[in-house]
Amino acid sequence: MTSPDYAVFGHPISHSLSPRIHAAFGKQAGIALNYIAIDVPAESFAASLARFANESGRGANVTLPLKQDAFRFSADVSDFARRAGAVNTLTRVDSTWRGDNTDGAGLIRDLTGRHGLDLRARRTLLLGAGGAARAAAHALLDAGIGELVIVNRSPERADALADSIGLPKRVHTRYWNDLADLGSFDLIVNATSAGVARETLALPFGLVAPRALCYDLSYGVAAFGFVAWARAAGAGKALDGLGMLVEQAAESFAIWHGTRPDTDPVHDQLRGELPLLATD
Ligand code: ATR
Repeated sequence: MTSPDYAVFGHPISHSLSPRIHAAFGKQAGIALNYIAIDVPAESFAASLARFANESGRGANVTLPLKQDAFRFSADVSDFARRAGAVNTLTRVDSTWRGDNTDGAGLIRDLTGRHGLDLRARRTLLLGAGGAARAAAHALLDAGIGELVIVNRSPERADALADSIGLPKRVHTRYWNDLADLGSFDLIVNATSAGVARETLALPFGLVAPRALCYDLSYGVAAFGFVAWARAAGAGKALDGLGMLVEQAAESFAIWHGTRPDTDPVHDQLRGELPLLATD
């Protein structure tokens, strides 16, 4: 077998859909690529990435828990990656890595492009303050949401995220224990990893404004609990992050290959296979 030229690094990574998505994009564009999943814990990531580059690695996606390490390993980063403090796309440039973050663009493309939603002025609640939340926060603010309230189990991480954004009139933090007192929101984004860990979030129904959009950045079974809660609370739309996954992959593909694939057929194929309570 030829050496891989593209890969996704993460831990765990065995269930990653990225190799399938990039293979489908490559087929569509008539580009032969060898994209594999590489399971590597944080302590071995640097060595594994160096080996990949030495063999034939030209580009890599990076997922949990390595996005901040990928940021540190990048000789140069895009403006959005710098703001998010995380890199999910590495590109080999002159024997160094350039770091991009396509998660934010992927989220906005899914919401506004695929689902045709207008995000402007929405009062938004962001649950979580990790790497995924950071990218979402910046992308949503860029897209024109109204007030952003960040709530995280560990309040100091929410404060750190709000401080780093630096928009004190628009971005606020509140305590998890006070969720019942925050009023209702037009957009609620679950950026916690609770669902991935099969943990349940206890969220008050009162958070959901009539016709609100609720979005979980994870997809499939990991998003079941949040999507079910949102529907029970009367959300106008409750979505998982499959669309974001496919769109961020398309943004990475465009960086590497100079052409943006048609994401709909790939998304629809995966949607048909992945269990989801509801997409609308
Ligand atoms: P990611 O890159 O996916 O954001 P992360 O940086 O590990 O991963 O962040 C995970 C997020 O999920 C954090 O905001 C975490 O809260 P803490 O900062 O308090 O750890 C949140 N999280 C994970 N499990 C949770 C749970 N059961 N309830 C609430 N928040 C949870």
